[in-house]
Amino acid sequence: MKQKKIAVLVGSLRKESFNRKMAKALTALAPESLKLEIIEIGGLPLYNEDLENNPPAPWTEFRERLRKFEGVLFVTPEYNRSVPGVLKNAIDVGSRPYGKSVWDGKPGAVMSVSPGAIGGFGANHHLRQSLVFLNVPTMQQPEAYIRNAANLFDESGNFANDSIREFAAKYMHAFAAWVDTNMSSRRQ
Ligand SMILES: Cc1cc2nc3c(=O)[nH]c(=O)nc-3n(C[C@H](O)[C@H](O)[C@H](O)COP(=O)(O)O)c2cc1C
Repeated sequence: MKQKKIAVLVGSLRKESFNRKMAKALTALAPESLKLEIIEIGGLPLYNEDLENNPPAPWTEFRERLRKFEGVLFVTPEYNRSVPGVLKNAIDVGSRPYGKSVWDGKPGAVMSVSPGAIGGFGANHHLRQSLVFLNVPTMQQPEAYIRNAANLFDESGNFANDSIREFAAKYMHAFAAWVDTNMSSRRQ
């Protein structure tokens, strides 16, 4: 079976990030049909259209790298009820130059993880708004607003209880099926 390559973008740069722990845990339990890889976004210069004539090397590398993936999984915290700037910047960098977006047609999914009570719902849905425009067919069910983040992982970064482990496995199986059925969604 040929594995499908999935880029994982984490919306936090924090060393002990719960979202990064979640991304790693999802990578470990993804079904065999998917090969997940975390793509670092912290070194991307802030998007500035003036630079498109001679784009910074990290932009070009990021764009070329992302093109080789067949799907994208976003795992993000919520900052002030929205998408953290570092993740929005990566999305903007990948979306240009106009007509050459790396996101176009890639099946996607969004998981938000927060210590807060509403599990990053605001960030999750603000991100989905951009993904509609970027033509990323985004998995709708199961939704994943993961709260209580401080209690999800043990000291080694493994899931701390069966309930989150089972949900994560179910989520990744649904995403594998979603990728299978939405791989030809590029704009005509
Ligand atoms: C600038 C900033 C804004 C935040 N705003 C929210 C918020 O709107 N909702 C929320 O649930 N948590 C908010 N938080 C708390 C984060 O959810 C918390 O720091 C979380 O651990 C960040 O994710 P990480 O562990 O992956 O770094 C905010 C944190 C920061 C630094």
